[in-house]
Amino acid sequence: MANGVIMLCFLVLTFSGHYMVVASDPKPLQDFCVADLTSSARVNGVPCKDPSLAQANDFSFSGLHISGNTSNAVGSKVTPVGVTQLPGLNTLGISLVRIDYAPWGLNPPHTHPRATEIITVLEGSLLVGFVTSNPDNRLISKILYKGDVFVFPIGLVHFQQNVGNVNAVAIAGLSSQNPGVITIANTVFGSNPSIANDLLAKAFQVDKTIIDQIQGMF
Ligand SMILES: *[C@@H]1O[C@H](CO)[C@@H](O)[C@H](O)[C@H]1NC(C)=O
Repeated sequence: MANGVIMLCFLVLTFSGHYMVVASDPKPLQDFCVADLTSSARVNGVPCKDPSLAQANDFSFSGLHISGNTSNAVGSKVTPVGVTQLPGLNTLGISLVRIDYAPWGLNPPHTHPRATEIITVLEGSLLVGFVTSNPDNRLISKILYKGDVFVFPIGLVHFQQNVGNVNAVAIAGLSSQNPGVITIANTVFGSNPSIANDLLAKAFQVDKTIIDQIQGMF
């Protein structure tokens, strides 16, 4: 009986260990695999170009010193450096973004299906937060100042808002070459085709006219 319990614990630990491995990008099986972005092959990631043709520029990106244009409805702009912008990231399970915020600008609630994110503030101050999964849905948030670092665990809904009257800038690393972004408002209210307004009215416990109004914004 005791042996059975030990065996069960062993199996649970073994399988949870495997799950943790596959929850982020798979580990590479060669030194590098510079993405061949012109290939029409469909694989998990992007096919490699001939490694003998790899150049320093394949492992490089220029322009992250340039401010993003925050003249939009939310007042923020994400400049991604993922596998599309930096082909050498292919299979390496890591990427970077620059985020610019106008005064009081918001990077609205969103989630990255494939990445944990670690962020640091270069300029200004940001209210950051994430919400734990059901049933608690606990908001964990704080204000970050220049030099502060915060982590958003993989899959959880999170946001940042500039809480100052000057521009803010942040840099974030993500644990995927292609983290993906699901912006909650756009996904729920701006899908194509639209989710039925009576369905969303029931989900959000409001009148259909309110849903129509929000869907009209997207
Ligand atoms: C920023 O974006 C706005 C809105 O799209 C546009 O009108 C403006 O010209 C852009 N500014 C720059 C400097 O590109």
